[in-house]
Amino acid sequence: MHEGELVEATLVNRDVREGVSIHWHGVDLPNAEDGVSGVTQDSVPPGGSYVYRFRAPYAGTYWYHSHQHSADEVERGLYGALVVLPRRPAEPLDIVALAHTLHGVPLLGSSDREERRRVVPGMPVRLRLINSADILRRFGLAGTDFRVVAIDGREKPGGGVLNGVSIPVPAGGRYDLAFPMPPKPVRLGVRGEHVGLVLDPGRGVTPEVQFGADFDPAIYGAPSAPVPARFDRHFAVNIGRRLGFFEGGRRLDWQWTINGKAFPKMPMYMLRSGDTVEFSFSNHSHAAHPMHLHGHHMLVFARDGRPVTPWWSDTLEIGQGERYDVAVFAKNLGVWMFHCHNLPHAAHGLVTHVAYEGVSTPFRMGSATHNEPE
Ligand code: C2O
Ligand code: CU
Repeated sequence: MHEGELVEATLVNRDVREGVSIHWHGVDLPNAEDGVSGVTQDSVPPGGSYVYRFRAPYAGTYWYHSHQHSADEVERGLYGALVVLPRRPAEPLDIVALAHTLHGVPLLGSSDREERRRVVPGMPVRLRLINSADILRRFGLAGTDFRVVAIDGREKPGGGVLNGVSIPVPAGGRYDLAFPMPPKPVRLGVRGEHVGLVLDPGRGVTPEVQFGADFDPAIYGAPSAPVPARFDRHFAVNIGRRLGFFEGGRRLDWQWTINGKAFPKMPMYMLRSGDTVEFSFSNHSHAAHPMHLHGHHMLVFARDGRPVTPWWSDTLEIGQGERYDVAVFAKNLGVWMFHCHNLPHAAHGLVTHVAYEGVSTPFRMGSATHNEPE
């Protein structure tokens, strides 16, 4: 689709017994179109359908997926890439590289091996890296210099030329790379996996991917936006872990927590329209958590208490022991999911909501309602 266009999408559930929905991950759209069962709609049963209508305000790389039983349904294939093209002419060679894991098998697009594609040298290329799996992926590019030009569906201005670095893309995250196609082959690889993509101009040796040091958005390019001088509200998001009961007390397992509570026992973060809000993440658990906020982008401005070059993210990897401070501008009324995009973690408690004062939802979740977003 193009930026600003009104789009209508009809979801038809032919035969998925557990029900389905579609969430448009990273698109800051009106709350009613957000596609979360039990929050913005009822899940769509077999034989049912649901119509989404929205405009995507920003060109960029996104993806979509079911938000009903998502830990299971996304892994099994109910996902896809969503590209919002700019009004101005886009790069002539626009390539999506979506990494997934299906039943333990790594995929890039629909292939479980390296693919090769004939291309014309000299063409400007935009390579859209998407990670739809549950854990971080490291991509590497060999045979060309490149720049990171967008992160999570927002342009990243002023980035310098890179070569040989690894691009860590959190679960649910997107990074766009750009380069002019050289006269020799370019190879995209995913660390530890046999998938890949070779852009082949027809001659020259295909280089090996090096997977050098991790690219760090915190020290790259120009600030994506100014950091607010003051905040109306400050919220802590302390991520931890404890033992808890599942399946009505029949199973004891680890539970992920925010401020000591696991879903559904945790309070929502309440905003007022127009607020400038600070969320301070800290991770005291024994895993990384790619935290995803629906309906808004977060301006990341500090890590471990030190300022960074601000960038926009909707899916921010909070590593073990890390702290991040982000700014959120409250201008999209609704009740919004805020959860870990390692989806089994979400299914084990790492879910909360951001809600606006005075806004509620007529939808209900829980096994009695057929709405189980995680
Ligand atoms: Cu892509 Cu609530 O998620
Ligand atoms: Cu997590």
